[in-house]
Amino acid sequence: MVRSTITGAQWQAEAAVFMKRVLVTGAAGFIGTNFVRRALAKKPDWYIVAYDALTYAGNPANLVGLEDTGRFEFVHADICDPERVDAVFASPLWAVINFAAETHVDRSIMGAAEFVRTNVLGTQVLLERARRADLHRFVQVSTDEVYGSLGLKGRFTEESPLAPNSPYSASKAAADLLARSYYVTHGVPAVITRCSNNYGPYQFPEKVIPLFITNLLENRQVPLYGDGLNIRDWIHVQDHCDALLMVLERGVAGEVYNIGADNELTNRQLTLSILSELGKDESMIRFVKDRPGHDRRYAIDSSKIRRELNWRPRIDFESGLRATIRWYIEHESWWRAIKSGAYRHYYERQYGVA
Ligand code: NAD
Ligand code: TYD
Repeated sequence: MVRSTITGAQWQAEAAVFMKRVLVTGAAGFIGTNFVRRALAKKPDWYIVAYDALTYAGNPANLVGLEDTGRFEFVHADICDPERVDAVFASPLWAVINFAAETHVDRSIMGAAEFVRTNVLGTQVLLERARRADLHRFVQVSTDEVYGSLGLKGRFTEESPLAPNSPYSASKAAADLLARSYYVTHGVPAVITRCSNNYGPYQFPEKVIPLFITNLLENRQVPLYGDGLNIRDWIHVQDHCDALLMVLERGVAGEVYNIGADNELTNRQLTLSILSELGKDESMIRFVKDRPGHDRRYAIDSSKIRRELNWRPRIDFESGLRATIRWYIEHESWWRAIKSGAYRHYYERQYGVA
């Protein structure tokens, strides 16, 4: 009998050669983390290269243990850095999905420079390198916010004009248009997705749902902007990630796909649901000054992706919100480390690199 001398690590390295190598930028953020975990669970022939600059919003603790799958590696780098991007493309990639972005509207109002740098320049650096690669798809993860704001009637379709109102949404719209132009001019197989507001595990507690949940868990009030009647259309992050898996595999290059779960709520309704779930009353609401340029209503018509790719959202809002609240209760150390700033030191402790 010939005894094999190949080690587990060698076997994994050899097997990786035959896998579909997928670059996931912004992988240590909220949706990126959920996407990587979902992809590793559902796509056994994918090898994930998770790429993230670890800004304040990137938390490497989100990805702990994924190396053990043998189908995951983490690259700590900036998408605006062409040399680091080039290094990742040096081994052939099958697909790219770009989540990396500055994402918080309120921060973009305080200062837009970083939004333009990452969201516009960073996307262009990736697209430029993608020209010289033989990619199956380049998925540009965009947002419904590029369409601007709706009145009481109507929904955003893929044909709605782009009319962004915040520096954040303007920078995302610019990235969309770059992706489109690299498809038309250079043949990069880009697909653009525009999803509505996500909620679920691992969301940074500056966004409304995790901010309100964690404030209430600390017995602190929640700041509701303006009259609380602005409307957002909520989707569970897992449904978004499943839609993205489909778009990455089967989406048509050059196309735009809206993603949404038909779940419009005023911020007041949303707040009351969180309060009730946590056994708190309305005295915990503090009405505060409105956000400048606050979009009144978002609502997504996602009939195209439902019709053409047969995608459907699976998680109803009531159970999704309850599960999300449970996740924050069960992962108190995760959000406390963020709120205290301690999570910033995780990477240094783990890898000895700042
Ligand atoms: P997030 O802020 O939680 O994560 C962003 C990630 O990008 C972080 O890990 C951060 O470290 C990384 N990053 C930032 N700048 C970088 C750079 N220059 N180079 C490399 N990495 C960098 O954001 P999210 O909520 O997970 O959103 C992900 C994507 O989805 C964004 O493009 C966003 O516009 C889009 N989107 C979000 C929502 C939502 O509701 N959260 C809805 C629709 C679309
Ligand atoms: P946010 O989570 O920042 O997402 P986006 O602005 O991208 O939609 O905000 C969601 C809604 O909640 C938005 O209408 C603003 C409102 N909001 C508050 O009322 N209070 C808050 O503290 C925050 C962060 C948001």
